[in-house]
Amino acid sequence: MNIRRRTALAAAAALTLAAAWPGAAFAQKKIVLGFSQIGAESEWRTANTESVKAAAKDAGIELKFADAQQKQENQIKAIRSFIAQKVDVIAFSPVVESGFETVLREAKAAKIPVILTDRAVNTKDDSLYVTFMGSDFLEEGRKAGHWLVDKMKDQKGEVNIVELQGTVGSAPAIDRKKGFEEVIKADPRFKVIRSQTGDFTRAKGKEVMEAFLKAEGKKINVLYAHNDDMAIGAIQAIEEAGLKPGKDIIIVSIDAVKGAFEAMIAGKLNVTVECSPLLGPQLMQAVKDLMAGKSLPKRIVTEESIFPMEVAAKEFPKRKY
Ligand code: AHR
Repeated sequence: MNIRRRTALAAAAALTLAAAWPGAAFAQKKIVLGFSQIGAESEWRTANTESVKAAAKDAGIELKFADAQQKQENQIKAIRSFIAQKVDVIAFSPVVESGFETVLREAKAAKIPVILTDRAVNTKDDSLYVTFMGSDFLEEGRKAGHWLVDKMKDQKGEVNIVELQGTVGSAPAIDRKKGFEEVIKADPRFKVIRSQTGDFTRAKGKEVMEAFLKAEGKKINVLYAHNDDMAIGAIQAIEEAGLKPGKDIIIVSIDAVKGAFEAMIAGKLNVTVECSPLLGPQLMQAVKDLMAGKSLPKRIVTEESIFPMEVAAKEFPKRKY
């Protein structure tokens, strides 16, 4: 039975009950949402989890929450368990882009709609999910690139960049790299001299930056980090190497979490591109709309901004994550 028919039947049953017992208060079945979260790798992710949990509570939706601890196999297990429990809707933020087709087919066969939040999967069959809501990672990479090109417009000579990539195979790591390269390749002065994953964590960001500094030392002009946590870890490594982050090495990162604003206010981070984790309310609205038989747009893009260090102190009090 498809979702519209299930919803229509539930509504018809409710009307029959109301007619049989006029005035009687009868409890409507709570919508059950199974949500598979990637983990707790960053300040961004923690804010995203809080947003989803709080919004479910506010919307009166029963949330079955599973933390995959950054492992795809755990996400697949969680989705299978949601299918076995016959939840009404499944939502998840895929840790990597590929390898979810089989389990998505299983959800489809069980007639449970799937919503992708934050990250996409790279399937050719887009009937395997109802909608994908979240940021445009490609555009975030481009914004980072444009800011850097403008910042370096009067600089003479080469601009040597080191890049801290996000989780290998994840949509943000792939797209943020691509978008950034697309913009800087127009100017031959810009060279990415080292690029390695820091897995979106502070600890790895620091570790990989230490290795970059050891290999390239003062040759490094710019650090492009795919998220703020890695940039914050790298800042520590730069200071420990006796250099001044934000001055000796220009730092461009993505997310706009509070930690990044603190680093910008301290003059250690030059710019952060916004990527909003506050997807909870939008997700719950989509779940409710689905259960009411409404159709959803295939792509819901989050609107975002960019914050250079010059505006950090003014913007900081307004930040929600
Ligand atoms: O998918 C969004 C990315 O995942 C955020 O930029 C990063 O901080 C998080 O871990």
